[in-house]
Amino acid sequence: MQRTEPQGRSCSPNEPMAELTFRTPERGDGAAIWQLIRDCGPLDDNSMYCNLLQCDHFAETCVVAELDGEIVGWVSGYIVPGEPDTLFVWQVAVSAAARGRGVGKRMLGELLKRDVCRQMRRLKTTITRDNRASWALFGAFAEAVEGGLQREAYFKRDEHFEGRHDTEHLVTIVFGEAFARRRTAPTPLRNVA
Ligand SMILES: CC(C)(COP(=O)(O)OP(=O)(O)OC[C@H]1O[C@@H](n2cnc3c(N)ncnc32)[C@H](O)[C@@H]1OP(=O)(O)O)[C@@H](O)C(=O)NCCC(=O)NCCS
Repeated sequence: MQRTEPQGRSCSPNEPMAELTFRTPERGDGAAIWQLIRDCGPLDDNSMYCNLLQCDHFAETCVVAELDGEIVGWVSGYIVPGEPDTLFVWQVAVSAAARGRGVGKRMLGELLKRDVCRQMRRLKTTITRDNRASWALFGAFAEAVEGGLQREAYFKRDEHFEGRHDTEHLVTIVFGEAFARRRTAPTPLRNVA
């Protein structure tokens, strides 16, 4: 079935986005997130149940971006089992009207500010070869964390997807040492000499 065109507020590229806010998702957001993802080709749409679980059990490592109360951005992630210092980013979605304004990059930054992510030393995600916007987003993120970006073919078209999906390349971004140190340095106490 053909996908519907993305709905939602549109704005001109120079219009300021002062009303843009970020927050942790709640169960009540699941359906709107599911719709946003459906509107954001080439993302795989998972079941609404999956998005509800992300908003519930994995809420601390997911971010919603809102513009005037409407959800325009979404990042789902989780801490990799057995790798307590590695954040895996599952999906990033920004509505067509809000793209190219730093929303994706800011959502990743919001995640890193959370207490649950304080000990993170690397970020992993997977990207298909032709997803230019996603490579640009994670390339910009790697620069922001003063880190290096490594890639390897991981979930392969024939071996893992039975030819039904392009190969997903595993991207690993290790945060730069100075950046990681700054993040965990204790905040200096105020009014103390
Ligand atoms: C990928 C996506 C989330 C990027 O969101 P966004 O809010 O437009 O990205 P940002 O504005 O934060 O841009 C981050 C960087 O990527 C660059 N970029 C973004 N889209 C780009 C594009 N289509 N082509 C080239 N560069 C692009 C920006 O210039 C910026 O670089 P800079 O920091 O060096 O200036 C958005 O395009 C999207 O939802 N695409 C469809 C779904 C998808 O493919 N998600 C990613 C896979 S999980």
